[in-house]
Amino acid sequence: MARATGAGRRVSAGPPRTLRTGEGEAVLERLGLGLARLYDEPDAAAGREHRFFAASGRSLPPGIAAAVRQVSQDAASGSLLPRLSNPRTSLGAVVDLVAANPVLAGNVLKIANSPLYGLRAEIAAVEQAVAVVGLGNVRALVFAELLERAEVPGGPTRPARGAMWAHMAKTAVLARRIAPAFAGLDAGVAYTAGLLHDVGKLTLPAAGQSAAPWRPPAELAAYGVHHGLAGYAVCGGFDLPGNLSQAVCLHHAPSWVEIEDLEAGLADIRLALAVGMADTLALSLDGCDPGRLLPLCHSYRFLINEPILAEALADPALAVELSRATALVRVSRS
Ligand SMILES: [Fe+2]
Ligand SMILES: [Fe+2]
Repeated sequence: MARATGAGRRVSAGPPRTLRTGEGEAVLERLGLGLARLYDEPDAAAGREHRFFAASGRSLPPGIAAAVRQVSQDAASGSLLPRLSNPRTSLGAVVDLVAANPVLAGNVLKIANSPLYGLRAEIAAVEQAVAVVGLGNVRALVFAELLERAEVPGGPTRPARGAMWAHMAKTAVLARRIAPAFAGLDAGVAYTAGLLHDVGKLTLPAAGQSAAPWRPPAELAAYGVHHGLAGYAVCGGFDLPGNLSQAVCLHHAPSWVEIEDLEAGLADIRLALAVGMADTLALSLDGCDPGRLLPLCHSYRFLINEPILAEALADPALAVELSRATALVRVSRS
């Protein structure tokens, strides 16, 4: 088997990574459970919490504001992150950005040459490596690499950050997959928003880092802010497009606030909804008890094309894609 690369050369490849027997079925089953839970009756507290999601006029507690500045400065240095966050950035520009950073270039080459891709010939050129690993996966690696630089005192530990990157990578893959179920939603933008959605957790004390589904009153009581709002501030520091920051801010809103009570336009709400649903599906995939996942408020359901959504989540290729995205994060940190 031969695979074309961006350099126009061909690399001899072995069989693509496959899943163990039953692994793909188990993934699709977990996604089905998560989807069913999203369509359950909403939580009793839902629909009354719109004050939690109004970003305008809200100031952050001083400690969190300092952490937001730290993350923004550490990770956004060199403008790499804002450029990679832009889905319109071309493959050639990404190759140049990666090639200019020795750590990133080394990581992308390591992954392209890992058993994940089953290539028989060794790849030594960054351009080929980016083409093999894929643009979306390279974005995920770059985000993780840049955000790893952010040193927030008392913030999440290295293992907790590793779990966060894996969760955000899976959410990104799922958001891109389900994007066609939302009219006018760009799949590349959905992927980037999924990749960033929990970035606010970097600014909260380690005690707040838990894989458990999130409830706004608990974070607000503990920190005076929830991770969606903190993430909104971080994205502002990265100088990202407003719709990405808004999706990060609102990604939990569809479980808590009726659509008419949200201060946002429909395009922003669609993006936040896709990311929020992808987040729930990723949590289900990670084995979270379905009873702890939060259903959507009824008012969002008219935005979803249900047959397209169901079809996207029943595709066996999705299981392979998710497995590869997770393994990639693991390899990059080994
Ligand atoms: Fe979240
Ligand atoms: Fe999440």
